[in-house]
Amino acid sequence: MTDYDAFATAYAAETETSLLNAWYCRPAMLGLSGDVAGRRVLDAGCGSGPLTAALRDRGAIVSGFDLSAAMIDLARERLGADADLSVADLAEALPYDDRTFDLVVSSLSLHYLADWNPPLTEIRRVLRPGGRLVVSVPHPAAYMFNYPDRDYFAVTQYSEEFEFDGRAAVLTYWHRPLHAMTDAFTKAGFRIEVVSEPPWAPDTPPELLPADLGDRTAFVCFLFFVLEPS
Ligand SMILES: C[S@@+](CC[C@H](N)C(=O)[O-])C[C@H]1O[C@@H](n2cnc3c(N)ncnc32)[C@H](O)[C@@H]1O
Repeated sequence: MTDYDAFATAYAAETETSLLNAWYCRPAMLGLSGDVAGRRVLDAGCGSGPLTAALRDRGAIVSGFDLSAAMIDLARERLGADADLSVADLAEALPYDDRTFDLVVSSLSLHYLADWNPPLTEIRRVLRPGGRLVVSVPHPAAYMFNYPDRDYFAVTQYSEEFEFDGRAAVLTYWHRPLHAMTDAFTKAGFRIEVVSEPPWAPDTPPELLPADLGDRTAFVCFLFFVLEPS
């Protein structure tokens, strides 16, 4: 059983409409994914499948996997019994042939892993030549702001408490400084095409935005990369 099995339904419900997921992370991932019509797309760490479904709505031929069986059950409810969804571990060999996908998206999942080389090497293996990987992770600067007494430069496991749809949950994941991310991409054979710190979606309901944003046009929360096999 993974952490997410314990609160899968609450997490899925919360993130369906939340500012950070529905109006910030997902629109940014979709924008960076570009035109996916007719493309084979893998959602690595797909959770309950909201991004997978949005990509399919845009014409992609989607596959997805997640470590949490409960999340995959929810994704199957969303995408249908015949959807190509699997329980699989980003840290292990992936159940796909070489050069299968035009695009791999991995949204808010890589930071659960201590070592990024196995997942990035596997993702590179299943990408077709000319394919791309679009990633979102917690912005490492947010760790610096939130934990000023800790060492920004140390790859560090830490836990945070959340409330999802009224249910308490603890998430445990890894902080890594920016250079550790870019080193991992290079080591696994990717070059960085885009680094993005986007604003929230323009149609975000204003009542969802923090009251103290003032004139700011973006906030430090997640960091987005578009990567190409080098
Ligand atoms: C923050 S959620 C994001 C889910 C989904 N990508 C989304 O944007 O809604 C993180 C997901 O990563 C999955 N996950 C964590 N570690 C994983 C691993 N080693 N392999 C595959 N999935 C993993 C969790 O089960 C969870 O569904």
